[in-house]
Amino acid sequence: METPVSFDYAPAPESRAVVSIKPKYGHFIGGKFVAGSKHFPTINPATEEVLSQIALAGKADVDAAVKAARKAYTTTWSKMSGKERGKYLFRIARIMQERSREFAVLETLDNGKPIRESRDVDVPLAAAHFFYHAGWADKLEFAGLGTSTKPHGVAGQIIPWNFPLLMLAWKVAPALAAGNTVVLKPAENTSLTALLFAEVCQQAELPAGVVNIVTGDGSTGALIVNHPGIDKIAFTGSTEVGKIIARAVAPTHKSVTLELGGKAANIIFEDAAIDEAIEGIVNGVFFNQGHVCCAGSRLILQESVAEEVVEKLKKRMAKIRVGDPMDKNTDLGAINSKEQLLKIRDLSATGDTEGAERWSAPCDLPTKGFWFPPTIFTGVTQSHRIAREEIFGPVLSVLTFRTPQEGIDKANNTPFGLSAGIWSEKGSRILWASQQLRAGVIWANTFNKFDPTSPFGGYKESGWGREGGRHGLSAYLKGVGHE
Ligand code: NAI
Ligand code: MG
Repeated sequence: METPVSFDYAPAPESRAVVSIKPKYGHFIGGKFVAGSKHFPTINPATEEVLSQIALAGKADVDAAVKAARKAYTTTWSKMSGKERGKYLFRIARIMQERSREFAVLETLDNGKPIRESRDVDVPLAAAHFFYHAGWADKLEFAGLGTSTKPHGVAGQIIPWNFPLLMLAWKVAPALAAGNTVVLKPAENTSLTALLFAEVCQQAELPAGVVNIVTGDGSTGALIVNHPGIDKIAFTGSTEVGKIIARAVAPTHKSVTLELGGKAANIIFEDAAIDEAIEGIVNGVFFNQGHVCCAGSRLILQESVAEEVVEKLKKRMAKIRVGDPMDKNTDLGAINSKEQLLKIRDLSATGDTEGAERWSAPCDLPTKGFWFPPTIFTGVTQSHRIAREEIFGPVLSVLTFRTPQEGIDKANNTPFGLSAGIWSEKGSRILWASQQLRAGVIWANTFNKFDPTSPFGGYKESGWGREGGRHGLSAYLKGVGHE
């Protein structure tokens, strides 16, 4: 075996001087920052440093936010022409680009993701979502959704911690383009970029109350979901909370979209270009520490190439640089929270006890903060918990198959159906497999590609509805057949 060449990278830290974090934040209601009453800390998961104190919104705060959103809807936003609404969205998109470095640094500090990803993926894609939807604002009647569509009114939006700013953009941009006003709640671990976005709304002179941001935990989320003044709920997060929300809104007039968990199959057929597939596997499950709902967390290998793939994958995994998220060379950053780290550890431990074989890339983990090395389990069977449950961390479960049909059956043997990956050099096989797979998004010879024009969403327990593209836009309009 040839000796792999290895390079030592000198540290290349991004400066945090570009952001100024306040010691304490309130809510953004009716165009102004208002003080909160109770607060809780938000930390940098890479160092456990307390970054700031975040307000916990109670009933009065949520009421005030819904009231501000309703007022803005009836007096301003629903009266404004699509062309005018579009101008505000273009303005927001441009300011996000201008302040992109600030957003990237803040996201990395608060979330733990590598600066390379927040800088090159999260922030540019968030801006792209605003640009894309800005273009729709004055063309809604040409979206093929009917000519008499109307906005719902006030949208309540609850987002998770894995892509804080990007999930905000997925929610706010289509809502505003379609003429709704919003009350958004970021996840309790990662509120800072949403609060910076509130400043952007002020800078763009967005009419007061069109965007309202209240911070808090699940209790604040429940207040939004159950508020009678809200017409539409959009949620991204765990399947468990998604089910609670579906039950809560079932007897009401509220329209709902849910983007929940996943356990995506990444299927490697024996005719695949193996070296390219290795990159796709790594990108599929180690991107964003594996905190990705559509992560390719089940690797399904055709037996004839299984050994070769696993051997090459381990070599490649040994080169993943784990550590300081603010270092521009870092590939894998910190696990977002202590709770998530414990969940990853617990589920991985069931892999050991149920008989799979664990291998982790050799790496020195920092002593402070929350860390987990890139890990694979081989010898996984379909009944193992690590083959069925979402780990939401840098952990890959490897299964094998003999015939293509068996590969598809294994891939579909899951309560989820968000995404899937197919690796094959044969076009006919790719088309055949993609017709069999029960997943909302299917990538062929690539993985984790996102674009605002492309609808995203799941089958089965992965959720209801689509986000992005015309399909996503339709979820923010009434009169298109699914309110
Ligand atoms: P979660 O579903 O509890 O949190 C997501 C958001 O929902 C947060 O803003 C939270 O404050 C809010 N929330 C919590 N309870 C609520 C309730 N009863 N009503 C309304 N809003 C509520 O997710 P959590 O606890 O952070 O993560 C648990 C697991 O969920 C993860 O390990 C992962 O497997 C999965 N998850 C999936 C995500 C996805 O993108 N599909 C994102 C985050 C988590
Ligand atoms: Mg939770």
